[in-house]
Amino acid sequence: MSLGANRLVEIGKGLVSREVFVDREVYDIEQERVFGRCWLYLGHETQIPEPGDFLTTYMGEDPVILWRDPNGRPRAFLNTCRHRGNRLCLYERGNASAFTCSYHGWTYNGEGKLTGVPYHVEAYFDELDRDRWGLIQTPRLTSYGGMVFGSWDPDARSLDEYLGDVRWYLDAVLLVAEDLGGLEPVTSSRYAARGNWKIPAENFAGDHYHNPTTHGSSYKLGLRAAEFVGPQGRCGPFEVAIAPGHGLGGLTTGAESFERDLANADRVGPEARYYVEARYAAIKKRVKGAGSVPYSFSHANVFPNFAIWGGSALRGHGFFMFHPRGPLSTEVRQTVLFPREAPQVIKEMAIADLGRGGHFASGFFEQDDANNFEQVTQGTTSYIARQYPFYFGMGLGHEGRWPGQEEWEVHDLPGLIGPRFSEHPQRCFYAFWAELIGEGE
Ligand code: FES
Ligand SMILES: [Fe+2]
Repeated sequence: MSLGANRLVEIGKGLVSREVFVDREVYDIEQERVFGRCWLYLGHETQIPEPGDFLTTYMGEDPVILWRDPNGRPRAFLNTCRHRGNRLCLYERGNASAFTCSYHGWTYNGEGKLTGVPYHVEAYFDELDRDRWGLIQTPRLTSYGGMVFGSWDPDARSLDEYLGDVRWYLDAVLLVAEDLGGLEPVTSSRYAARGNWKIPAENFAGDHYHNPTTHGSSYKLGLRAAEFVGPQGRCGPFEVAIAPGHGLGGLTTGAESFERDLANADRVGPEARYYVEARYAAIKKRVKGAGSVPYSFSHANVFPNFAIWGGSALRGHGFFMFHPRGPLSTEVRQTVLFPREAPQVIKEMAIADLGRGGHFASGFFEQDDANNFEQVTQGTTSYIARQYPFYFGMGLGHEGRWPGQEEWEVHDLPGLIGPRFSEHPQRCFYAFWAELIGEGE
């Protein structure tokens, strides 16, 4: 689609129209073609470990219940009663063998079947076909490394194919947790942000460039080690564009980041050192045969709106969801997970840091970012401003031929790997977005 004569996305020129972030028609189309078709992250299996455990979330704007059925199988249902649409589950999390609608009392079991209808003889003369009026279930649901993804598209390609090479990095750096007791959620947070969901999503896909400026105060105050002085490092950080629309960045390789974590771990105690060493040994084992060893990545976005945060063995992983709430607002949900075997002291340090300096709603980093997103939105909604596109041209034409890339420690690593300052992951994000909404170049 396009609005009038103006193209929404022109990747070859690095241009993305501001309408992409504000226009209601674009937003409605994206609900159908992006959120109605892509694989979307719903939650982690450890959040619903037992039969009957559930959590509520969203797929695009659609409210969804992720519910483990009596046989232990996770299922995802639209969180709406089939009678006249009332929201069925009003809770965030819990355990239930059935839900009864609070409007007229229809009841559904963990397999989504309509099992109870008040006054069904008196009101429906026993004619209601209950099999026809069960809950609406996602036709596709797959679990990968404990992460549950669903799709409304019955013909969607497999999750494996959809994740593509991003899976290689998640297997090596995130799911190394499986060798350390498995990932477990330790805390969560949420807040409402004023801005289109794509603004934080593309920031996580590959925007190392904003770090020195947006988060400059944290570096000046010494809350974060300054990693932006001097030239591009041989071992990172790198930004990676991964087909079809994923991005991953702040990628570091080799032993440098490991040594840095070890030095920090030594300040905590021997158990921290042991854990950092065990994690690195497990990563090396996982990528055996690859020329270079990835150590960590600080940010990633699995298209469209599932972001993963990390950057160090001492920080754990943040799973962030950017749920659209209209063109101009986003609900940000954050869960922090750690390998079960990580020492308690590291988990506590990381949680404290998230709330103070990091990416929880109260943290410096998150407030720095949220302020940008809000200002971008304010500067994008007005009539004249909307006529001028955003520019995503950083590094355009240099892809795969970056200065000094022959020195980089990235042998055998998949994806289009570029320097820390480049917008090729965002171009990958918007090229796929444009393809989905029907505006390929
Ligand atoms: S809307 Fe749920 S029972 Fe009527
Ligand atoms: Fe940021």
